[in-house]
Amino acid sequence: MEIDIGIEPKNREHIAAALSRVQADTFTLYLKTHDYHWNVTGKMFRTLHVMFEEQYNELWLAVDRIAERVRALGFPAPGTYRKLLTLTSIKEDETTPRAEDMIRALVHGHETVARTARSTFRLAEEVHDQPTCDLLTQRMQVHEKTAWMLRSLLE
Ligand SMILES: [Fe+2]
Repeated sequence: MEIDIGIEPKNREHIAAALSRVQADTFTLYLKTHDYHWNVTGKMFRTLHVMFEEQYNELWLAVDRIAERVRALGFPAPGTYRKLLTLTSIKEDETTPRAEDMIRALVHGHETVARTARSTFRLAEEVHDQPTCDLLTQRMQVHEKTAWMLRSLLE
């Protein structure tokens, strides 16, 4: 059936494409955080192991909400590593970083998703796609707060 929600098909397509990049960034940051949960070592092991678990669980639930918004706009959500890798702006690690470098990498990751979400928000706002704006506002809040908490560990 045709989709008739008051957003032009071309605009729905633009927002879905931008939102897919937010989804890919969120997925890549999810996997990086879970990787760090498994592989962190050192004096901060307990703190970071537990903190990373809280963070990857939150990111995992968010990936689903973002993907389902892409579907509600009428487009396929990226669901393979290959597609996600072409869409994300977050780099994978070549080797396992030291604990402090993990924290730095996650700050960069959360800031990256916040930027992708913010540029997508502008598109969604222009065409009055309030549900996407609402979702992105919530995501920016989480990423900016998490970046602050991680940054605080380094001070
Ligand atoms: Fe675990």
